[in-house]
Amino acid sequence: MTIDRHPPIIPGFSHLLHGGDWNPDQWLDQPQVIDEDFRLFALAGANALSLGIFSWTKLEPEEGRYDFVWMDRIMDRLANDGRKAILATPSGAKPAWMALKYPEIRRVRDGKREPHYSRHNHCFTSPVYRAKVQAINIQLAERYAQHPALGAWHLSNEYSGDCQCTLCWAAFRTFVKTRHGDLAAVNRAWYSSFWSHTFTAWEEIDHLDTGMHGMVLDWRRFVSEQTIDFMRVESEPLRRQSPQVPITTNLMGTFQGLDYFRLGRAIDFSSWDSYPVWYRGDGRDAEVACEAGFHHDLMRMVGRGKPFMLMESTPSQVNWHSVSRPKPPGMHRVSSLQAVAHGSDSVCYFQWRKSRGSCEKFHGAVVDHVGHENTRVFRDVAALGASLKRLEAVVGLPVSSAAAVMYDWEVSWAIDSAQMGRNTGKDYIPTCMAHYRPLWHRGISTDVIDQTCDLTPYRMLVAPMLHLLRPGFAERLQAWVASGGILITTYLTGMVDENDQCFLSGWPGPLRQLLGIWTEEGDTPPDDASVPISTTAGGLTLGLRPAYVARQYCDLIHAEGAEVLATYAGEWYAGRPAITRHRVGLGEAWHVAVRGDEHLIEDIVGGLADRLSLERPLTGLPEGVVARQRGTGPTRHVFVMNFSGKPQSIELGSGWCDAEEGSSATSLSLSAYDARVLTRREKVFI
Ligand code: GLA
Ligand code: ZN
Repeated sequence: MTIDRHPPIIPGFSHLLHGGDWNPDQWLDQPQVIDEDFRLFALAGANALSLGIFSWTKLEPEEGRYDFVWMDRIMDRLANDGRKAILATPSGAKPAWMALKYPEIRRVRDGKREPHYSRHNHCFTSPVYRAKVQAINIQLAERYAQHPALGAWHLSNEYSGDCQCTLCWAAFRTFVKTRHGDLAAVNRAWYSSFWSHTFTAWEEIDHLDTGMHGMVLDWRRFVSEQTIDFMRVESEPLRRQSPQVPITTNLMGTFQGLDYFRLGRAIDFSSWDSYPVWYRGDGRDAEVACEAGFHHDLMRMVGRGKPFMLMESTPSQVNWHSVSRPKPPGMHRVSSLQAVAHGSDSVCYFQWRKSRGSCEKFHGAVVDHVGHENTRVFRDVAALGASLKRLEAVVGLPVSSAAAVMYDWEVSWAIDSAQMGRNTGKDYIPTCMAHYRPLWHRGISTDVIDQTCDLTPYRMLVAPMLHLLRPGFAERLQAWVASGGILITTYLTGMVDENDQCFLSGWPGPLRQLLGIWTEEGDTPPDDASVPISTTAGGLTLGLRPAYVARQYCDLIHAEGAEVLATYAGEWYAGRPAITRHRVGLGEAWHVAVRGDEHLIEDIVGGLADRLSLERPLTGLPEGVVARQRGTGPTRHVFVMNFSGKPQSIELGSGWCDAEEGSSATSLSLSAYDARVLTRREKVFI
């Protein structure tokens, strides 16, 4: 079902959200600073502030004694000004008094209990921590559930990591029991007879054996599920007191520690923290933008395709990349509007005001230590705030994609574990991004999905390095292709099942019939080697170039019903198939057995997208200028973004309107980094 417009993220607040992480609790002894912040919010057009993320000790200075007076004042002032709080639960950083009194809330790593330090390092299982979190969350929920400033709940902060305490191991054993049943089934699932690791009693499962891949996979699943369970405990009081207020937690793109597609089902909308290395000064910002686009599309799909929140981004520099430069003029605008183009209904920052001390004192912020608005960064933020106000018609508009690229956490984990011909440069994530690139350059709306997602909206699916197949997925793919889908798979496909055990029926396992091939073995040439590929007459007819170069992965396959589009032209396997296509029902299953150069990916992915005439908002754009769209028909908004690092002029032809200016636009003149949003001018019949 296509949706014309989603409701706004904050019910009844139909604005693009603009603001960020704000820590007035760091300035309670300097009320004039907080007064200034309120003045500056108005100047910057900030309407949503994330509050209380790291405020636990300020809210509960000693066990059971709460102090909400300062937060009451802040919430009231926000409400008076018509602004919203994205109110956090403070579990991301525990108070020192609690860590000292209840050691069990601190994580165990390598058999040792951690001291109290840093953040994001509590045990997710500890009943004490869960009780403490619930207690403070009950206070927050009871106090602010009906507060007019409350816009959304922000659970904790960047959930991550695992704990290996006895409580967590007990919980893991329960998880495993539920998943597999008895110990014999666990032994089978983990292939524990290898190296005589068969478990004879549950208690023997008490440490992570990284060589036992089935166990590693289950541990990672457990960490995701335990985090979700912790989130459930966190959310309970919030849901009870304020069922009308949506809940999110800020995610981190392709972060490996948690399966975000699972997590996404436990929140009401997705939000994430985006910190690309913008501007290296080497003209490669379009590549950075492409990666950022991939992440946005992934985060939107983790939120089941609905508009998401860009919860954190930096208005200037970060302080944790090895090198990070300020955003040059225009970069803030184009990078922020890119998020909106991909489905974000917000542009929010870490952080509103720079902290005076500690490790983030030099991290970019809207308000610098100098404290006033007369800075380049503040002006850029304020200008963006004004633009977001003018672009409010975008709120809720969907991104509708006919193309999808698969990125699956379980695949990533299994590839990470696998010890095989190549143990370096496996590059699952960069490979997914490389296959996304031709679609991104064309401005084709693309979803980034995993094996649990519905395939029916798509005409084309690129699933690179689909090493692990979840139960039932091959059958779903088969049906989808038969009904007309175009599938592209690559080397390393269909090797292991959900327990990370190899298929015994010949690779690509249950996809063998659909792809019409058998992968017998795989060569993994060293990084400095290459293997030439030569296109067959059939491949040439389908638009492939006569020759390509393969590197790093060269699977040795047999065609079993698939037509051969290219063969190896070197190495001892010259003449063997390298690229195949299998027509199945109304669709096609392409298999690329090699890690090809960028031309190969471009010709296959881009070529198929062209053949399918997938919708592109604008064509003929210069290199580094990309368009994306939200909405359809009269609501359609086209974002034209210049990441090329050079000024660009674009002829649009007739019928376009600048959405911000309201005036007609027949051409665009974009400075080195800039973005414009266009709508179709309504036809006026006189
Ligand atoms: C993360 C955290 C923030 C802050 C920023 C710095 O996204 O959530 O608290 O540390 O990184 O970039
Ligand atoms: Zn633990």
